[in-house]
Parts: sequence; C-alpha cells; structure tokens
Amino acid sequence: MEVVPLGSASEIAVLAADVIEAVVRRKRAAVLGLATGSTPLPVYQELIRRHNAAAGPAYDGVTCFNLDEYVGLPAGHEQSYRATIARELTDGLGISPAQVNGPDPSPAELPTAGERYEALIKAAGGVDVQLLGIGSDGHLAFNEPGSSLASRTRIKTLTAQTRKDNARFFDSPDEVPTHVLTQGLGTVLEARHLLLIATGDGKAAAAAAAVEGPVSASCPASVLQLHPHVTVLLDQAAASRLDRLDYYTEVYAAKPTWQGL
Ligand code: GLP
Repeated sequence: MEVVPLGSASEIAVLAADVIEAVVRRKRAAVLGLATGSTPLPVYQELIRRHNAAAGPAYDGVTCFNLDEYVGLPAGHEQSYRATIARELTDGLGISPAQVNGPDPSPAELPTAGERYEALIKAAGGVDVQLLGIGSDGHLAFNEPGSSLASRTRIKTLTAQTRKDNARFFDSPDEVPTHVLTQGLGTVLEARHLLLIATGDGKAAAAAAAVEGPVSASCPASVLQLHPHVTVLLDQAAASRLDRLDYYTEVYAAKPTWQGL
C-alpha cells in the first residue's frame, strides 16, 4: 500500500486524474471503476476540465462500472448513483450511457442483480483502476462494518450513520433508502489498481483504521491491506491520525519519478 499525504483536495484531484488518464492512454478500452459521494467530485471536475481543454485521452473505448446503487428509488431519480455518475462525470467525458454500468435495482430483478453484475464485470475483463472513497464508519462502497471480507455484489442494509451522512443529498433524512446494492469487498479486491481518496477531519479515524489498523470486517476498508496495488491519497486533515505519517511523507518525497503510482 502506498500512502501519499497531500496538501489539499485539489492536489488529490490532479494526482488521481493523472492516474486515471494514464490508464486510458495506455489502454483505449480501459475499464474504470467509479465511486459516488462528495470526495471524488474534484477528481471528476479535473478530468472534465482537461477533456474540455482537449488535454485528456480519448474516452470512446472506455467502459465504466459503478461501485454501488440505492434500492427503492424511482427509476431515473436524480440521486440514484447511475444518474449521479452520468451527471458528475461520464456525460462530461462523452462516455455513452450504454458504456456505464451499475448494479440493477429494479425490484423484479433484485434476487439476481448481484450475480448479473459480477458477470458483466468479468465479461468486460475486470476493472483496471477503481476509484474509492471511504465512509466515516470505514465502509467501502456500501460494505458496512461486519461485511465479509470475501463478499460479492449483493443487497445490503445501510447503518443509521451512513443514512445520516448521505441525508444531505435528499430533501429529508427519511428519503435516504435503507437498502443498496454494492460490489462486495471480494469484488473490489479484483480490480487491478485501487485508488482510495479521503479528505477532511471526518475521515481521519476511518483512514487510520483502514491503513494502519488490523484487517477486520469491523473496518471494511482495511481489506485494502490485502491488495498488491493500492494507492491512498489523503489531504492533511484526513492523514492527521496516521502513526507513520512522517514515513509516508519521506517515502513519497524520495520516490523516483519513473516509478509512477
Ligand atoms: C457513500 C458511497 C461510498 C463513498 C462514501 C463516502 O455512501 N457509497 O462509495 O465512498 O459513502 O462518501 P463521501 O465521499 O461523500 O464522504
């Protein structure tokens, strides 16, 4: 795991956009794993800014897979993750909606939604780079504490904390769905490169537990310690509770430029 302490969310956005663009430049048919929440928004804005300035790669061969989706919202709801990803990123990059996949929350199809999503990811050849945020309770995608570290895409029930955290996106807290479909932790671990980003004080404890705590279902993001290629980009506030912060800073400062992330 490579932990990169950075000065601000905008520095994270630049570096994360560099990583994603490098994958697409190297592989025109790249498969991108996308996350929702507030943390990735500066990254998405940076990618769109570069695309509009004709400084980005061609996205016409790219396929995307969203990490998760609410269950129980009307189809096309503006807070569905399918609508959010289109609005915040893929429409802006000119990626066709047909190339953007998400778990299917339609009620009649729920029992098979997980295995169908797994099959779609597999058929696309797997995810090349997966962008990830982290919940204040250490959740990854929507894998709440207690999730199996080997879990696959399935339905989950949100914790009260996560529903409270996400209430800001809805008119009232009661509108936040109780159920979701989420890639499992075992599914996430199959992506070739995992890029976790976290900003702000509210993520400091979860980031420290994920990076330096024991690998445990009590902190689902700690499963990242089992993956061979993980990059963690943190701003100062999110990095503030790391015991080895000085070491990570020293390692990054001395990193050979040829090595990349
Ligand atoms: C959401 C998403 C996660 C995201 C997390 C943090 O509920 N399912 O993928 O990483 O919560 O969100 P934010 O970046 O808004 O803090």
